[in-house]
Amino acid sequence: MRAQLRGLTLAYDDHPGPRPAVVLLHGFPLDRTLWHHQVAALAGQYRLIVPDLRGHGASEAVPGVATMDDFADDLAALLDHLGVDQVVLGGLSMGGYIAFAFWRRYRARVLGLVLVDTRAQADTEEGRRGREEIARLAEEQGAAAVAERNLPKLLAPATYRERPELVAEVRRMIAATPPAGIAAASRGMAERPDSLPTLATITVPVLVIVGAEDQLTPPADAELMAQRLPQAELVVVPGAGHLAPLEQPERVTSALRAWLERLR
Ligand code: MLT
Repeated sequence: MRAQLRGLTLAYDDHPGPRPAVVLLHGFPLDRTLWHHQVAALAGQYRLIVPDLRGHGASEAVPGVATMDDFADDLAALLDHLGVDQVVLGGLSMGGYIAFAFWRRYRARVLGLVLVDTRAQADTEEGRRGREEIARLAEEQGAAAVAERNLPKLLAPATYRERPELVAEVRRMIAATPPAGIAAASRGMAERPDSLPTLATITVPVLVIVGAEDQLTPPADAELMAQRLPQAELVVVPGAGHLAPLEQPERVTSALRAWLERLR
């Protein structure tokens, strides 16, 4: 489905089901198919709203910088468009950074958070320089070059070595991302604030999931969030790197399902 919101076209899937509505935000530079296993398993049990973030998948890119607040405002506009007031908000990696921004701006709309393969800290200076390099790589050489650079770190070493179909799936997702969308999100992530002080304010239940072999946002980052969140459960997923929902779909789905049942 598509909607014209905030001056751009946003693509999303909206699977009907009982409350609470669950939103799943993909990471960078991916698209909503990141969640296809969880959507297939949970469809009909919850309303599932799965957008392509601006500049990703089939959603339009806007030149310039896409801040985490921009993405959060897009989501609020999408929920208004769908007539949905409150949601459980899940996000992987950049999706988690957006979940923090959404909490700061629209906390009354959040029933719970699911933070997958993400971190609360802002970028280091070195990290910010890397963001600019990726933005320029996308602008100068296209999304396929970004795929080649990022792929090895996105997956657990064994996934990367032994599961060529999964590697190809992720490569396709990245290569299909508009270069302007990659550049805008990369520069937006560099600007994001430190969300460590936000953690203590998050008074709703939070499920924290991390791949045991996540090289980009390692288990130590997830443990730090779980320690500082008032109501967190931490699940470490063996055999997964940064893309746990794709690498170990059943384990991620069953953790999510069990937590959602307790929340309901
Ligand atoms: C993501 O998966 O969204 C990115 O790896 C996030 C990041 O680079 O910090």
